[in-house]
Amino acid sequence: MTSATRPETKIIELQQVEQRFHARGAEGGYLTAVDDVSFDLSSDPPRVVSLVGQSGSGKSTIARNILGLQKPTSGLISYNGRDIYHLNRSESDDFRRNVQPVFQDPYAIFNPFYRVDRVLQTAVKKFKLASNAAAGLELIRESLEAVRLDPDQVLGRYPHQLSGGQRQRIMLARIHMLRPAFVIADEPVSMLDAQVRKAFLDILLDFQQTYQMTTLFITHDLSTVHYLGGDVMVIHHGQIVERGPVNRVMTQPDHPYTARLLASVPIPDPNRRWKDRIALSDVEAETEDAAAPVAPEATGRL
Ligand SMILES: Nc1ncnc2c1ncn2[C@@H]1O[C@H](COP(=O)(O)OP(=O)(O)OP(=O)(O)O)[C@@H](O)[C@H]1O
Ligand SMILES: [Mg+2]
Repeated sequence: MTSATRPETKIIELQQVEQRFHARGAEGGYLTAVDDVSFDLSSDPPRVVSLVGQSGSGKSTIARNILGLQKPTSGLISYNGRDIYHLNRSESDDFRRNVQPVFQDPYAIFNPFYRVDRVLQTAVKKFKLASNAAAGLELIRESLEAVRLDPDQVLGRYPHQLSGGQRQRIMLARIHMLRPAFVIADEPVSMLDAQVRKAFLDILLDFQQTYQMTTLFITHDLSTVHYLGGDVMVIHHGQIVERGPVNRVMTQPDHPYTARLLASVPIPDPNRRWKDRIALSDVEAETEDAAAPVAPEATGRL
């Protein structure tokens, strides 16, 4: 029996992606924000993969590259095996529908002069999710309830009349309506307090499993990475220095930079105590840029 063509499981793949920006004063007149980055994200099974690194390490640039918002200087980004910067019309429609972002500050996405419903109604219309207005509204209400928002309370309000956590959950409602195959979330919880953050992550994890969404979660917060589980990629100066299951990377990091990050922040693990952790000074000696260590912050953020 001949084997059938296997469905493409690499929903997103980056091959030797480089992103340079002109930068006055930098060596050669440019800086390399993303430096020879290659990785793939599988949709079989769909997983959560975190991308963690300190500020300026290139995380958002990679997100913009993947979303098609910033064409990399060189390298290839593919969606289901197709170069995203050379998609035909129907492939592009599929990409726009199935690759969805959630950004840090949803306030920037809402138009302050329009009620918050509009962001959801626009999605219904753009992606033809309902055959008429009543069915569209029904879908919106259902999705708001799925993210534990009361439709009667939030519909008809303006963005400034909602809390940051509520605005961010409206973006989750949009994800619930679209059920994309791939979600890229760039620091979606960094402006939220601990309780609201946990609620957001729980909904995202629930959707990820229920609707089989592969998720790339960008953060500088190692405790969030720990909470999400799945895989983690560590980025340092635009390079992915390590990738693996969160539990392995957090307990037995391969790369000295990862070890240094872990040593500088407390991870919520009741079985591990401060004194058992890798001493910062032990790894600094092994790391090339020991002169500029990561500021150890008690918050668990990079
Ligand atoms: N459009 C641009 N033009 C010039 N430089 C840029 C541009 N976008 C990003 N950079 C630079 O590229 C580097 C990486 O930026 P990026 O926003 O990807 O970092 P980040 O890891 O997302 O940081 P943060 O955690 O603070 O969000 C930074 O040095 C930044 O100043
Ligand atoms: Mg960023």
